[in-house]
Amino acid sequence: MRMTDHSAGQGPRLAPRLAQRRNLVTEIPGPASRELLARRERAVARGVSTMLPIFVTDAGGGVIVDADGNSLIDFGAGIAVVSVGNAAPRVAERVAEQVARFTHTCFMVTPYEGYVSVCEELGRRTPGTYEKRSALFNSGAEAIENAVKISRHATGRQAVVVFDHAYHGRTNLTMAMTAKNMPYKDKFGPFANEIYRVPMAYPLRWPGGPDACAAEALNTFKSLVHSQVGEDNVAAVIIEPIQGEGGFIVPPDGFLPGLAQFCRDNGIVFVADEIQTGFCRTGDWFACEHEDVVPDLITTAKGIAGGLPLAGVTGRAEIMDSVHAGGLGGTYGGNPVACAAALGAIETMAEEDLAGKARRIGEIMLPRLHKLAAEHPVIAEVRGRGAMLAIELTAPGTLDPDPATTAAISKACHQAGLVTLTCGTFGNVIRFLPPLVIGEDLLDEGLSILEDAFRDNA
Ligand SMILES: Cc1ncc(COP(=O)(O)O)c(C=O)c1O
Repeated sequence: MRMTDHSAGQGPRLAPRLAQRRNLVTEIPGPASRELLARRERAVARGVSTMLPIFVTDAGGGVIVDADGNSLIDFGAGIAVVSVGNAAPRVAERVAEQVARFTHTCFMVTPYEGYVSVCEELGRRTPGTYEKRSALFNSGAEAIENAVKISRHATGRQAVVVFDHAYHGRTNLTMAMTAKNMPYKDKFGPFANEIYRVPMAYPLRWPGGPDACAAEALNTFKSLVHSQVGEDNVAAVIIEPIQGEGGFIVPPDGFLPGLAQFCRDNGIVFVADEIQTGFCRTGDWFACEHEDVVPDLITTAKGIAGGLPLAGVTGRAEIMDSVHAGGLGGTYGGNPVACAAALGAIETMAEEDLAGKARRIGEIMLPRLHKLAAEHPVIAEVRGRGAMLAIELTAPGTLDPDPATTAAISKACHQAGLVTLTCGTFGNVIRFLPPLVIGEDLLDEGLSILEDAFRDNA
């Protein structure tokens, strides 16, 4: 299946290595994947579930190839991770070079340049012109845990304010911060304390309607923080600028700037969790830039390293450096191979203008999604920005979630060779997160598959 593709005006070095086309040669999943699935069921814990059990052998550009030789269109990017494409050439080259030199020393024992270079890039690329410092970790949840540690240390306060529909991870502290019970939290408690949840500005579901949402949600937030927590007790307010797992909820204009201002007025650390939205996904390097919001701390992971595990906390030098030497770290955080991957991914994003590509993906997808919504009243809303888009499904004319149709549409897409993901507190949102390097022909074809799935199932 591997081949060099000289199309799209790119030189061979940067071209996707796989034929960029959908090609189904068996049912989904095919016999080879089913055999692996049976092995998986005997060896892998049931709690680690799989949405689409095709076993991958190759992936690149906008396609995923499975053990049966099927080639599927990728609208998931491994949950917003391979924004630069799978096995992206610059990532693969830098990783290969690094892995042949050294794989680990532990930055806390004997450092190396790659870690410093990634922190320099984070300082340069994240919003805010103030002096910054960064620390690197392995996963998004670990970055969030550390953002909380740092905020508490810097302020001498304990309370952390999070939002309805939030998703911040699966470790004990981040489970407490994540809103949704099933499957993330059920029977895994007790959870960390000093976490306070307030309503999210969710325009579609705001009781006073979308126009009143920003102002009312901000007032509710302020009133609850004042009456139930006390401003002086709050170390950090942590929010995803566009909520991810909770349903791609885009707060109305004014809400994020209002939160940031409240934090400034009250000595609270404002943390933007850009783990899913960051690194060009929404059409800017970071989603906060859309309203010129400058967080005090920003957490990153997922798209940062083209698929290798890496995460970061970046922020104001005085907040980051409030922590004593040795207070942050871990054996693997900022592993040299993951740092090499990140430098390859960031170079790809800058040189190929992947923020521009994300905006272009939005321009192509949004009109088709709006047309689909006009034809199918089960779609209550089309929302998102850049290449982070979603549709929410409800019983027509109501806000009653329709997870059954959502699952049926998603399954039909999978059977037809389109990898889509669902999300949402109520399981009724189909989300679209294609790799930013996906070809426009694949994007069109993927949308046609989605349209067919609605025609047959909605
Ligand atoms: C916004 C956000 N925060 C945190 C996390 C947790 O990241 P990880 O799965 O790398 O621990 C995720 C993962 O989906 C996320 O989307």
